[in-house]
Amino acid sequence: MLAGKRILLLIGGGIAAYKALDLIRRLRERGADVVPVLTRAGAEFVTPLSVAALAGNRVYSDLFDLTDEAEMGHIELSRAADLLVVAPATADLLAKMAAGLAGDLATTVLMATDKPVLVAPAMNLRMFLHPATQRNLAVLRGDGVAVVGPNEGDMACGEFGPGRMAEPLEIVAAIAARLAPDLPLSGRHVLITSGPTQEPIDPVRYIANRSSGAQGTAIARAALALGAAVTFVTGPATVPPPEGARIIRVETAAEMLAAVEAALPADVAIFAAAVADWRVANAAGQKLKKRAGGALPVLELAENVDILARVAGLGAARPRLVVGFAAETGRLVEHATAKRARKGCDWIVGNDVSEGTGIMGGAENAVVLITGDAAPETWPRMGKAEVATRLMARIAEALA
Ligand code: CTP
Repeated sequence: MLAGKRILLLIGGGIAAYKALDLIRRLRERGADVVPVLTRAGAEFVTPLSVAALAGNRVYSDLFDLTDEAEMGHIELSRAADLLVVAPATADLLAKMAAGLAGDLATTVLMATDKPVLVAPAMNLRMFLHPATQRNLAVLRGDGVAVVGPNEGDMACGEFGPGRMAEPLEIVAAIAARLAPDLPLSGRHVLITSGPTQEPIDPVRYIANRSSGAQGTAIARAALALGAAVTFVTGPATVPPPEGARIIRVETAAEMLAAVEAALPADVAIFAAAVADWRVANAAGQKLKKRAGGALPVLELAENVDILARVAGLGAARPRLVVGFAAETGRLVEHATAKRARKGCDWIVGNDVSEGTGIMGGAENAVVLITGDAAPETWPRMGKAEVATRLMARIAEALA
């Protein structure tokens, strides 16, 4: 989402500076290059070493550092960024910005820049509500500075009220709104299930399936690349989850259902998970032991709730577009079409998972997209990432 964007992050001296560390991680996950500037007061709260390690860049802090100036002067530093973010923005920093003071590197850079500036105020609530701070913020807004937060809540000083710095993901959203406002899925929430589920037989054994989570993960990446906020509900997959999504890990179908319901509302829901149709109704609380005489344990199965059908059947909370998958081992179009009708979803992506296709757990997929509007579309066999990109492009078109 922020690939290729350079963000100059100015870290002021407040207790919220620790959240700037998480902000750096979140920005880098989204592909941004983060160049940190640490004020002297900021360095009282977080160390230059932790900031540099997380940013993967050196930390700038001194206006009169000869090495700094030789490598990259303060003018260059402020011009080479796409956006300047001040987080935390203390009362003192805001006042200096509003007055146009330039006594240290951070304030000099802010004066020298011709790039947009976003501030995330963080301070004690009385300092925030003080007329001087409110006046300074009004001046800064008038100068075109964007402001995110602060939020109301418990403060480190033991009081309650406005002054808590916005959460890192809120700051990321504000940054994205400034830097990548025109992506096709900006502002949309896409909910994706992915991977297998595991249904316990006893505390150590379970019923599962061969899903790797590769197709669901690729779809999440494609949705993120189009600017969507993604909630990714995943069973125990073998591929790592997508960076930049909100990840919710589950094991059983019942847990997946609960996680999906809790993640709604969403604009789009895509059910790529290979959910176990059955759970073991008589799952044992203790490990099953071999029995004398060779008597075999008998597993009783119970049907799991169909998560896709449940969500597709919701009233007001139904996502605008509900997309299911149909894994079949024969008569693909016929079965997938019937499944679409039976489950009540808008679109279904059918794929042939017969033995020998190498699709389940593999790198490629061969799918049929059934939207109901036209004849089923058979896509050529291609990489799962490409299937994901095409599918998300179609979804973005449908929502536009
Ligand atoms: N699905 C789900 N919850 C379940 C079972 C399936 O959300 N309990 C979703 C899958 O994520 C997929 C779609 O339903 O999007 C189709 O799943 P599939 O296993 O292929 O179909 P089944 O309903 O199991 O039908 P059948 O066993 O007859 O093939």
